[in-house]
Amino acid sequence: MNIEKRPRGAAGPINRWLVTGAGGMLGQDLVTCLERDGETALALTRADLDITDQAAVTATVLGCRPDIVVNCAAWTAVDEAEAHEDEAFEVNGRGARLVAAACAAGGARLIHMSTDYVFPGDACRPYAEHDRCAPRTAYGRTKLAGERAVAELLPGSGYIVRTAWLYGAHGPNFVRTMIGLERGGKVVDVVDDQHGQPTWAMDVAGHVIALARSGAPPGVYHATSSGETTWFGLAREIFRLLGADIARVRPVTSDAYPRPAPRPGYSVLGHDAWASAGIKPIPGWRPRLDRGLRAVAAA
Ligand SMILES: NC(=O)c1ccc[n+]([C@@H]2O[C@H](COP(=O)([O-])OP(=O)(O)OC[C@H]3O[C@@H](n4cnc5c(N)ncnc54)[C@H](OP(=O)(O)O)[C@@H]3O)[C@@H](O)[C@H]2O)c1
Repeated sequence: MNIEKRPRGAAGPINRWLVTGAGGMLGQDLVTCLERDGETALALTRADLDITDQAAVTATVLGCRPDIVVNCAAWTAVDEAEAHEDEAFEVNGRGARLVAAACAAGGARLIHMSTDYVFPGDACRPYAEHDRCAPRTAYGRTKLAGERAVAELLPGSGYIVRTAWLYGAHGPNFVRTMIGLERGGKVVDVVDDQHGQPTWAMDVAGHVIALARSGAPPGVYHATSSGETTWFGLAREIFRLLGADIARVRPVTSDAYPRPAPRPGYSVLGHDAWASAGIKPIPGWRPRLDRGLRAVAAA
């Protein structure tokens, strides 16, 4: 994918966007939203631009002169990162640093995507944007390294947007898996002791675009749905929306599904920073799932 479009008849300043990781779940939805808005966007998949290739990153950013870079490229295999932390760091830590350095050299603003996994995940109230980070997984450590590089190199023009529990029309995700299991007539056991915020990638894309246009202060923003639930609560709501018997979704504890990377018990994110940007947080996960589920099911 490599789109480039001039907006037709757009009023006001024209931003030139560059999206890395444009072939991923979020990257694809972001590019769809930018195309829909008639923005000028260069969408680069991993095949187009490997963010660990310093010369390529520098040449691309300095050559294209974007106003805004959105870094959606990441190593996102949470469990595999436990045994391959160096490789995950190469993308999430060093790669993010290279993108930030190129933005600094080229005078571009950067929106860098990050994760709830930078927190320990054992809170009993939503994590604020400024709360202490203390990741418990290799993935979380590498993502935190990326955040720190962006904050260090772009103190006046770097935005860190943390999201979590993403689902969307592209790529594997929990909502897609549940739709498949429901259609297959299965009874499913789903963990009920991990709390988070199911978030539609289209909503994150919309907030990334709004943030870029807002002139908001640089810093950390949390792009997750409002409210909270568990994976069990989410699965039941999916079955209900599909018209299925919700008794086919049964609650279990995390012990039933041991994973190489420990999953956070509570990683709900607070949304206070959006007020400084004049942007409302993403609405509740339940009403957004009503729309997002239809998009995933139709894909
Ligand atoms: N999905 C979630 O639930 C979730 C939760 C919290 C935060 N996030 C964050 O949100 C962002 C987007 O995630 P996503 O869900 O869209 O992940 P995704 O679907 O895995 O997309 C990531 C993209 O990055 C690409 N990539 C990997 N290494 C690269 C490299 N060296 N250079 C360039 N591109 C590279 C991948 O390409 P290949 O597929 O070819 O490897 C993939 O297209 C990431 O920063 C992630 O950490 C996601």
